[in-house]
Amino acid sequence: MPRIRVLEGWLADRIAAGEVVERPASVVKELVENALDAGARRITVEFSGGGFELVRVSDDGEGMDPEDAALCLRRFATSKLGSPEDLRRIRTLGFRGEALPSIAAVSHVEILTCDGHVATRVRAEGGSEPRTEPASAPRGTVVTVRRLFYNTPARRNFLRSVAREAALCLDAAERHALARPDVAFRVVRDGREVAAWPAEDPLRRASRILAVPADELLAVEAQAGGVRVWGFLTPPSFTRRSRSGQYFFVNRRPVTSPLLSRAVEQGARTLVFTGQHPACALYVELAPELVDPNVHPRKLEVRFADEGRVFAAVERAVRDAYRSRPLVRAVPLSASPPPAAAPGATGWQVREPAQLAVLEAEPRARLPRLRLLGQLASTYLLAESAEGLVVVDQHAAHERVLYERLLRDRTRGAHAQLLAAPVTVDLSPSEVAVLPEVSPVLRELGLEVEPFGGSTVLVRSVPVISGRLPPEGVLRACLREGLWDGAPTEGQRAVERAASVVACHSAVRAGDALSVEEMRALLQDLERCDDPYTCFHGRPTLVVVPLDRLEGWFLRR
Ligand SMILES: Nc1ncnc2c1ncn2[C@@H]1O[C@H](COP(=O)(O)OP(=O)(O)OP(=O)(O)O)[C@@H](O)[C@H]1O
Ligand SMILES: [Mg+2]
Repeated sequence: MPRIRVLEGWLADRIAAGEVVERPASVVKELVENALDAGARRITVEFSGGGFELVRVSDDGEGMDPEDAALCLRRFATSKLGSPEDLRRIRTLGFRGEALPSIAAVSHVEILTCDGHVATRVRAEGGSEPRTEPASAPRGTVVTVRRLFYNTPARRNFLRSVAREAALCLDAAERHALARPDVAFRVVRDGREVAAWPAEDPLRRASRILAVPADELLAVEAQAGGVRVWGFLTPPSFTRRSRSGQYFFVNRRPVTSPLLSRAVEQGARTLVFTGQHPACALYVELAPELVDPNVHPRKLEVRFADEGRVFAAVERAVRDAYRSRPLVRAVPLSASPPPAAAPGATGWQVREPAQLAVLEAEPRARLPRLRLLGQLASTYLLAESAEGLVVVDQHAAHERVLYERLLRDRTRGAHAQLLAAPVTVDLSPSEVAVLPEVSPVLRELGLEVEPFGGSTVLVRSVPVISGRLPPEGVLRACLREGLWDGAPTEGQRAVERAASVVACHSAVRAGDALSVEEMRALLQDLERCDDPYTCFHGRPTLVVVPLDRLEGWFLRR
């Protein structure tokens, strides 16, 4: 007797529904996508009881005529694909013709739709044959989904609390609202309006949803190799401990993308404190034939034809955005002292754009002109700028200077300082073991090491910047830092990592008394850096006490 049977339609539908409709938020997503595909200008999203009781999405889009309305609950019924060619360049959010039938298989659905002439009502329960009747309604579509998962109790039991599912429904609505600021959105949760956003410019919408004041957001805009990247990014003062505030859109489709997250990470490296993440709304736009959105059951991910190109464009765009404004950390203007907090988590302030114009006139002079006043506690340099008192962390600043110099010298080939006599160093067996991998990278930075029999090596030259450290110290620092433990051992990342170790160990320390000449040179060098505001760990190199703050202290205003 044959054991394989073809499943009955209703059972097949319910199984397929499991893929598309993971939870109430999936219903919100699919219905909003349909509304956007229908050209809606205003969308209302309602949900109650975490979306299990009710999800309703109303739009003012093109609607459906009675014939389409009768078809739209059928599997693989779609108006969005005509030919196989269309699948190669998808321009709509939906294309599979499975969302509505999947939702209908596990709920009670009612669709009220009007194409501007005739209105139709369609009802179906648990994938039953849809019943159609004439109705009256303005142009647009209202899809009401009730009793979600009533016939698949197992799925219901796997989901989290009502409150949690409600939060995810809200998140789904927000994601699409962020994708399409040109569309007005209203969100009603358990009968209460929780959002009402008019059609507005992208900056306003991003500011609402990232919850960061618009004038704090850095604009991202870059175009390279057929990829346009634009959007908004938070400055280092608004970073978060997780990547939860990172929103990505590919041709306006909300996506999750480890590739794009990594590109942001890379672009923000050395500018944002280690372990912190900027929040962002980044829109990647490229020809539809270079993206495949048909790779994930719920269309949450896409595949790029050329990942490298997209990665490079995003990394570049992010870095340029940080460099577009001086990121000086200012002492807050409030009367109370600033609360103590984790480094990088407080008080960066972006200077007024008005002052930016003056600075931009001088190439590379990214810092305001600083006039040295002296040193405090053998740790901080005090200087004066047009804004007020500037306090520079001498170690962080020197780290940044040395790091950039190492990398710059390397590209110019002027990096090695030949030792008058080679120095022998005895290494431990584990150090000897990693040496073959490490030494090409070290050589790039000017640290020339060669085997000298057994566990002994000869150091022939050291990086020019490491003048303060004995050659043995430089070598051991690089090996000891666990530099090569799981880290890339070649390429730009490996060199940058080694450069940061050499720079960190070579830089002046807190507590080092400096001569006036040394201090002046340090400030000048800092002014010439590409990224003078942070050391490569992302810690600030300087803070400003604005003049009006001083005036406040002395009760002059
Ligand atoms: N809000 C709406 N306004 C107008 N037409 C709609 C609306 N929602 C659905 N439709 C019509 O119903 C069809 C089926 O919708 P459904 O979401 O099931 O599939 P799809 O959007 O084509 O593809 P996918 O399954 O990838 O979402 C759509 O192709 C569209 O023609
Ligand atoms: Mg759809």
